[in-house]
Amino acid sequence: MEKLQAALARAREKRDGEGRPIRTQRGTMSQSRRMARAEALANRWDEIPMFTPSEKRMHEARIYSAEANTDAQYFDILRTKLLLEMRRNDWTRIAITSATAGCGKTTTACNLIAGFGRQLEDRGMLFDLDLRRPSVSKFFGAAPTASLADVFKGEVSYQEQAMRLHRNTAISMTTRVSTDPAQIILSSQTAEILDHVQADYQPDLMLFDMPPVLVSDETRGFLKLVDAVLIVASAESSTVAQVDEVEREVAQYSNVAGVVLNKCRFMDESYGYTY
Ligand SMILES: Nc1ncnc2c1ncn2[C@@H]1O[C@H](COP(=O)(O)OP(=O)(O)OP(=O)(O)O)[C@@H](O)[C@H]1O
Ligand SMILES: [Mg+2]
Repeated sequence: MEKLQAALARAREKRDGEGRPIRTQRGTMSQSRRMARAEALANRWDEIPMFTPSEKRMHEARIYSAEANTDAQYFDILRTKLLLEMRRNDWTRIAITSATAGCGKTTTACNLIAGFGRQLEDRGMLFDLDLRRPSVSKFFGAAPTASLADVFKGEVSYQEQAMRLHRNTAISMTTRVSTDPAQIILSSQTAEILDHVQADYQPDLMLFDMPPVLVSDETRGFLKLVDAVLIVASAESSTVAQVDEVEREVAQYSNVAGVVLNKCRFMDESYGYTY
């Protein structure tokens, strides 16, 4: 109930910031304050530098969702279903993990954030928290001057490190492999910095690309900081027992938002609406 009320209050505040009829002197003042806050927030987002991704690298990495097209349709469906669940449950922080490596977590995360950029009224962030095998930077063919771990160490600010893919989506890439990721990811300073970023930028979505949960201690430890978890399974390699195990593991620390079956070669034609 409290969560629902908080969600309604947030939605009301956002709506109000976009302008409503002015009725009283008191209303005028509070509305102008709200508009000033909304403008300050928009300016804060505008200060995050934009980057131009490599079309070639995105295509090679199967990132199709930056534009509406038939290749993007399954990721668009996933994005919309996730957004509906997030709104229903008042979730903001979503982690993506799997049982083992190579199931398609980064592919899913990058497509989700690319597709989210087409939802112009929402704001989203992607964080590459796979500090052992980072690949978001490779998938977009772009690299910031500082790595995400530098933000968590307090050496650079979020605004200096993140880069915007669209007006309303920002990506924090990891460009240096870390030998002790747990030390960075599980530190109280990292939790505080994420809280500050969330408070300062008020994103609708904070998406975390994580290592596989069954082989990474930092993923388990980090899950308590997120609202829900999307589990990616590979039709080619994940077993039902592994997916069950991940679900049980995740459920100990957070909510399971759903399981994505990736790399499925044999799709019933009726699933494709346009072809
Ligand atoms: N639906 C798909 N069809 C075909 N290939 C795919 C699909 N999804 C991902 N791949 C490919 O599988 C490989 C692994 O994908 P990805 O890097 O997204 O997985 P991951 O779970 O993030 O891996 P890691 O555990 O190493 O971080 C990549 O080469 C990617 O292009
Ligand atoms: Mg990955």
